[in-house]
Amino acid sequence: MSTIICFDTLNAMKLYREGLLPEKTIALVPTMGSLHRGHLSLVEHAKSLASVVIVSIFVNPLQFGPQEDFDKYPRSLEQDLALLEPYRPLIVFTPSVDEMYPQGPSRTVITLPSMTRVMCGLARPGHFDGVATVVAKLFNIVRPHVALFGQKDAQQLAIIKQLVEDLNFPIEVVGVPTVRESAGLALSSRNRYLTSHEKDRAVFLYRGLSVGRALFEQGERRSSVLTNEVAKVLQGQGIVPEYIALVDQRTLEPLDVLRSSPAILAVAARIGQARLIDNVVLSP
Ligand code: PAF
Repeated sequence: MSTIICFDTLNAMKLYREGLLPEKTIALVPTMGSLHRGHLSLVEHAKSLASVVIVSIFVNPLQFGPQEDFDKYPRSLEQDLALLEPYRPLIVFTPSVDEMYPQGPSRTVITLPSMTRVMCGLARPGHFDGVATVVAKLFNIVRPHVALFGQKDAQQLAIIKQLVEDLNFPIEVVGVPTVRESAGLALSSRNRYLTSHEKDRAVFLYRGLSVGRALFEQGERRSSVLTNEVAKVLQGQGIVPEYIALVDQRTLEPLDVLRSSPAILAVAARIGQARLIDNVVLSP
């Protein structure tokens, strides 16, 4: 079987899953499509970890606010499948909204209040509840042994790791390093909304974070100093950040001083039509 098999119903996906031999290891790469090299790096990692790799492509309405870009979120299934070709054999799960939410918006919503209502959760109320809920559904449908997520979405990654712990999913959650363009801009499906001038400005998110990381490497541990230095870089470009935060990587609790556990220095900002996020991991 050196091909790409697509399933677009839950039944077909579940039947296939039930038919897999018990010795097979299964990796899930959940995506919303509009794939780029960042996603492909997740698939590549998945291939090195499991014998069967399942990529889900589902633009999840539950994680978009009423004023957000659900309708105009880029959808490009044919192009996505072409990008996945080199990774055959592969299973691609592409359920419709009706398949995933046959009774309309989910009545069950998973929330992790201390983690979903901070950082990006402040500007996007309900977003991470939608993410946690759909990821739990995908976990139950696909029953993978391992699931891979990008480190670029550090808050999402921390929430999913906690969800798996709290709800006893027998799944290993693996974070995969952010893939960047040569100038440093983190790859994101939403980069498509940027003009080339906006792209040049967006690069400064990572430049700012890199200044913060360099200071950390020189021994600086105070959040106020690290975040101020990032802010200065952004100010220089007229970028008004939604937030710049130093938080514990696992719990997302804000830190005044970085002590022994790894932290993330994270930023969110709107540039043109795009709301962009980025982060660097600081490990003492
Ligand atoms: O990161 C994403 O693309 C989405 O939030 C995810 C994890 C696929 C859930 O819809």
